[in-house]
Amino acid sequence: MNATIGQPLTRLDGRSKVTGTATYAAEFQRPHLAYGALIQSTIANGRIAKVDLSSAKVAPGVIGILTRENAPRFKRYPDKLTKNGAPGESRVPLQDDNVYWVGQHLGIVVAETFEQATHAASLVGVQYEAQAPLVSVAAAHPTQPEKFIGRESLQSTRGDVNAGLADAAHKIDVLYSTPIENHNPIETISTTAEWEAPDRLLIHESTRGIKQLQTIVANAFGLPLENVRIVCKFIGGAFGSKAFQWSHTLLAAAAAQLVKRPVKLTFGRSQMFDSAGQRAYTEQRFSLGADNSGKLVAVRHATITHCSPVSEYTEPCGRMSRMLYSCANVEVSHKLVRLNLTTPCPMRAPGEAPGIFALECALDELAAAANVDPVEFRLRNYAESDEHDNKPWSSKKLRECYERGAQKFGWSKRVKEPGSMRAADGSQIGFGMATAIYPAGQQKAGAIAILNRDGTVVVRCATHEIGTGTYTAMPQFAADTLGIPIEKVRFELGDSQFPEAPNNGGSWLTATVGPAVIGACRELKQKVVQLVGSWPNDSTQMANLFARAGQNQIQVHFNSEPNKEEREKFSFFSFGALFVEVHVDVLGQVRVKRAVGVYDMGRMINPLLARSQIMGGMLFGFSMALMESTIPDDVTGRIVNANLADYHIAVHADTPEFDIDFINEPDPHMPDLGARGIGEIGIVGAPAAIANAVFHATGKRVRDLPITPDKLI
Ligand code: MOS
Repeated sequence: MNATIGQPLTRLDGRSKVTGTATYAAEFQRPHLAYGALIQSTIANGRIAKVDLSSAKVAPGVIGILTRENAPRFKRYPDKLTKNGAPGESRVPLQDDNVYWVGQHLGIVVAETFEQATHAASLVGVQYEAQAPLVSVAAAHPTQPEKFIGRESLQSTRGDVNAGLADAAHKIDVLYSTPIENHNPIETISTTAEWEAPDRLLIHESTRGIKQLQTIVANAFGLPLENVRIVCKFIGGAFGSKAFQWSHTLLAAAAAQLVKRPVKLTFGRSQMFDSAGQRAYTEQRFSLGADNSGKLVAVRHATITHCSPVSEYTEPCGRMSRMLYSCANVEVSHKLVRLNLTTPCPMRAPGEAPGIFALECALDELAAAANVDPVEFRLRNYAESDEHDNKPWSSKKLRECYERGAQKFGWSKRVKEPGSMRAADGSQIGFGMATAIYPAGQQKAGAIAILNRDGTVVVRCATHEIGTGTYTAMPQFAADTLGIPIEKVRFELGDSQFPEAPNNGGSWLTATVGPAVIGACRELKQKVVQLVGSWPNDSTQMANLFARAGQNQIQVHFNSEPNKEEREKFSFFSFGALFVEVHVDVLGQVRVKRAVGVYDMGRMINPLLARSQIMGGMLFGFSMALMESTIPDDVTGRIVNANLADYHIAVHADTPEFDIDFINEPDPHMPDLGARGIGEIGIVGAPAAIANAVFHATGKRVRDLPITPDKLI
């Protein structure tokens, strides 16, 4: 049997997607379906004084309206989701009259059509007792957060940074900022809630956290967990959104209860800016010092970021600054300001993307101050171990990434002096580079594997396909473990009735669900071998097996979890180095011409899918560097560019020539095949590589993203 692991297989779900037969959340049709539209606040701070529904109630097609007056008493979100500074809202909707941001959900109108519901919602008259909102970071009072997405505290010190800085031969002290950004997947959020019985709820939702959503909904309505079923077979992009506790799912379910019909609620684009999280604004101050030999002697990374009044989520910018480079004196701190804006949450490498932007720019600035080549500077400060946790790396081939990347890119052709390279059309050429890093996580997961009489194998897990290739990679694991053709495997996901899987985040899916699938298939094979000595090769042998088994299906269930000892002994990260060439024209427009990235992410399961993920990640990074910015109005707190015409995201026309390569060596301390999850690492480092290249092209150091033309001319 030809192994599929390591082969560039195309997506097994590709045909269903391009032919339109892949069913996304908004496309589920139910009998007697009604449509919901949200009633949203138009002020950012205050209280609701009065809600006038008289016009909305008599509008064409209206079936029912849910507001605070007739909302069920939702139970609070489970403590584990809100107590530890986790993302998402910490208060359930419609339980009080307080308003904290523009767009907060005040109710839902249900009508026969989407258009009628939307129209009726516009007729709802809300009177407020409004107060001036706090929208500006400068005016807010920063406080010290304690928890970071349930992770360890990110306030830490080792050595003596002041002493290090005092002795430093070269130093910089600079401030970077990154704006609020929104995930903006093509597929907006959609929920269809249907009460199959008075105490049984079925929800089709675009979510990358079906098990978590099941818990949230069951808890809010006081239902047994098994009475709530969440289904999501495909997701049209998530990038950090579509998980966590937001109020729309509860509103749709309560509305369906009210009108006794299935209710579908689908967000418009503007609601993707105010109703399902966003990346927080960050200000990051870097004080760095190096000695005469270009060795770091001090790293201070102080972050101020924002959150909403109703939850505590701290963008963990400083985490990587503690260990990406070798340095005896390191101090990392985070402060939080609460603004009248919607609640931030993880987005496309939360913490790492903005944090590494600042770190890798600061390093570039210090390298320039010390007159050392940026790649050479990083090599001089190479961390041979994780100096924060005091552990060896599980494996780290970053040196090879720098070397191969520099060689492929032609880094040696870089003329050192900024502003000294020109293209034929007169634009300035800049070469920039940065390091990429992302934690290599693994979570608990389960899978069942079923052998059918016809020789096909079905594997099930309550995981998700967020567009990254789960429907392809998991069958690869199954087929190779069983030694059968991949065509005989069907992988099913996206149903809360399937065995456990965590939220899809943190780039851990492959390393998490892979071991569960491999484990289940291994046990299935063992069971078959016990019965008949070997895996059946033809229908006669298959018939013999099932006669022996005395059942129509042979099924096993396997649970996997991270190896605690290994996790305690080693520090698990993926690494990469990326190099970009930008051209900057007289109008200050930056074009990314080439991008070379070399990554060490353990064993590559499918290099084609991996390349796509890294390409997408890098493009998001270029987008973050040059375009993306959510702009709240200083006075009203209203987002002024909540649409894709004014909020720019990199598109095909912005795509450079990519050269993406992998070290492809298995991590000996990761389970089974030694694969570390991939995805988010693609964005990490990309904004800094661009900013560093723009500096090299123009001599201008832009420290506030995005790098728009006005900042260059
Ligand atoms: Mo990532 S935004 O941690 O899924």
